[in-house]
Amino acid sequence: MADKAKVAIFISGRGSNMAALLYASQLPEAAYEVVLVAANDPSADGLQLAAAEGVHTFALSHQGMPRADHEAAMEKAARQAGADYIILAGYMRILTDRFVKRWQERMLNIHPSLLPKYPGLDTHQRAIDAGDSHGGVSVHLVTPDLDAGEVLGQMKVAIREGETAESLAERVRYAEHQLYPRILGDYVSRESDPSFLLERVRKLALALPQTHERESHGAPGWRAGSEKSGKYFAYFNDQHHGSDHVALLVKTSGMDELLNLVEAQPHAYFKPAYYGASGWIGLILNRPNLDWEHVGEWLERSWRSIAPKSVTRLMNVAEEF
Ligand code: GRF
Repeated sequence: MADKAKVAIFISGRGSNMAALLYASQLPEAAYEVVLVAANDPSADGLQLAAAEGVHTFALSHQGMPRADHEAAMEKAARQAGADYIILAGYMRILTDRFVKRWQERMLNIHPSLLPKYPGLDTHQRAIDAGDSHGGVSVHLVTPDLDAGEVLGQMKVAIREGETAESLAERVRYAEHQLYPRILGDYVSRESDPSFLLERVRKLALALPQTHERESHGAPGWRAGSEKSGKYFAYFNDQHHGSDHVALLVKTSGMDELLNLVEAQPHAYFKPAYYGASGWIGLILNRPNLDWEHVGEWLERSWRSIAPKSVTRLMNVAEEF
């Protein structure tokens, strides 16, 4: 199995979701491991539990500290623990936009309502007051807007006659403990899922002007120019010729550049069988912390190297504006 994704969990209180995530990570085949539990309240119960289970902990009170300084210290602890993801589980601090952007697509939160209903606080009472048949819970990506990032998964919880916010909250917690580990596991596994990776590459490749997709030796490939006379600028390889890599092949300037990159960054690049001889390099896609902007830049560069001049010229002009 591929390396497990490393997650840091941020809490403020009892940490029951953290505990659910932690124990789920101990199941065979779990896709993630918990490398840190951090809290903004040194007396948070969850810290003790994590420490007792042998998980590294970090606590720093936010009181009297500027927001950005406090979160920088939390972030430093997460990075030092080697975290690829930050998982918010009852973390009661608002994060700055800059922090959120740095962890974009790598930070998840759990919210006790069926988003987009009831962002913010008092979710259970609001659902009861509105006469809703169900409350529930959502796991979502964190974006700068509060509780507004892409919802990755939800679970409904029925609202009974005479339900109070407390009784509903208690049952919603059971649902949370089922949902969060499952959604997190699925989410971090996407990085090694070839169909997810192919879909992302396809979107980037086809966003370039005058491109189309065509299979080549059973693998998806993308060409620039007309259907008739277009040329390939990228191929998708799913574990070709015995390699473990799910990779994107793009054109380098030649053998020198290719070999230098492979030597300097063997975790990111490789020389593909057959194609390597003509300067195609393999970008490894199934690895943690892949920078998709960088993949996009490679695609554009490769596209530029073969696209008809009339089209690249238009693109240059457009970029000047
Ligand atoms: C949960 O209800 C969660 O949805 C919300 O905060 C609460 C945290 O509870 N974001 P716990 O600390 O995990 O027990």
